[in-house]
Amino acid sequence: MSTFELQEFFLVALPGLEDIVQAEVRDWFPDFESKLEHGGVTVMAPLAEGLAMNLALKTPTRILLRMKTFRCKDFPKLYNKIAAFPWKEWIDPTCEIKIHVSTRLSRLKIKNRIEETCKDGWIEYQKKQNVICIRGKTADMFVRFINDDCTISLDTSGERLHKRGQRQFIGEAPLRETIAASLLQHLGRKHAWNIPGNIELVDPMMGSGTFLLEAAFRDELVEARDFAFERFAAQPDAKPKLQTKRPKFDSLIGFEKDLKTQAAAKVNLKDTSRVTLKKEDFFDAKPLPPAGNKQRWVIANPPYNERIKVKEPLPDLYARLFAKAEEVAKPDLACFLLPSKSVKGKFDLPRGWKVLEKRPFLNGGIPVVAFVFGRSDGISSKKVPSAD
Ligand SMILES: C[S@@+](CC[C@H](N)C(=O)[O-])C[C@H]1O[C@@H](n2cnc3c(N)ncnc32)[C@H](O)[C@@H]1O
Repeated sequence: MSTFELQEFFLVALPGLEDIVQAEVRDWFPDFESKLEHGGVTVMAPLAEGLAMNLALKTPTRILLRMKTFRCKDFPKLYNKIAAFPWKEWIDPTCEIKIHVSTRLSRLKIKNRIEETCKDGWIEYQKKQNVICIRGKTADMFVRFINDDCTISLDTSGERLHKRGQRQFIGEAPLRETIAASLLQHLGRKHAWNIPGNIELVDPMMGSGTFLLEAAFRDELVEARDFAFERFAAQPDAKPKLQTKRPKFDSLIGFEKDLKTQAAAKVNLKDTSRVTLKKEDFFDAKPLPPAGNKQRWVIANPPYNERIKVKEPLPDLYARLFAKAEEVAKPDLACFLLPSKSVKGKFDLPRGWKVLEKRPFLNGGIPVVAFVFGRSDGISSKKVPSAD
């Protein structure tokens, strides 16, 4: 394999957010060819640069390196393919291998047997290389069968990428960092009008502060954690650089009524000077001073009555929250992440607001919709259309 040979990477995305992952790839690596797929984005890149995507991208769940696809209907063939593949051109052959199997519409369907066969093939490969496993050094291999086509991939990320190595404490119902980053980036791309102007971000129910953290560190590399690619044969030789201008979050304001959760947010955000954390019930908040020439955005992930219980009907809570956000923050843009089932029955928007966009996806298995609201001056109170 030459250093410049293109490799195929698969960036795993939450279904419904794939295009945001692709847009982020273009922001950092405009030269990489990419293709949208269900559940992810395929990217062609030289090995070292491709591995470096792990350091820069905030929206994918993990990044796989696709090694090989072949027809396979029997175990001996699978064993031989694994045993004969020149693994050490990509990865340290002394790794202990962990196999993750998925299989659909294929003759080989017993997952345990597929796993054992791949492990045996790997051990045979190690024997041929005269190496043995070094304890504690592991690599994850993803083996996927569809219609008797077997695709073997190596994981380049390790722990899922929403773990930035930075958020130390979490609240009752934390939002995944990848989701928070996706929504913030998407709003900046689609709905900011004074790029690269400044934005004040207000989260009225910040929990442990995920939106604020992701806004504060949006353009920085993730370096406070380990990655699986550290056991690969090539290493990123240069740090990725953002290749586009994005609106800057230069002021961050968060409200949280639960004292323990607020304390968690404070620790998580300790390295950010631009942040003001308010230990108060948002419904008791006084109006904020005008944001001046900045845009002000309100972004919220309010309780869903799942892990955090809510006494009133959810549409009433969300309508009240929006009305209060209008009174306290007078935002230019608002984004609420709400459970789909709760907004089927619609809820009231404050006067002068309209829905700009609805984006459905799954948040930890719960169907949700990210609503983006904008001002439509002169239009009276409107209803949110249902999510489906
Ligand atoms: C779904 S969680 C938000 C999680 C957050 N995005 C995170 O990643 O940690 C909702 C949060 O809103 C807080 N909350 C609920 N009602 C509130 C209110 N009236 N004022 C301020 N915070 C409130 C809850 O304590 C909880 O931490």
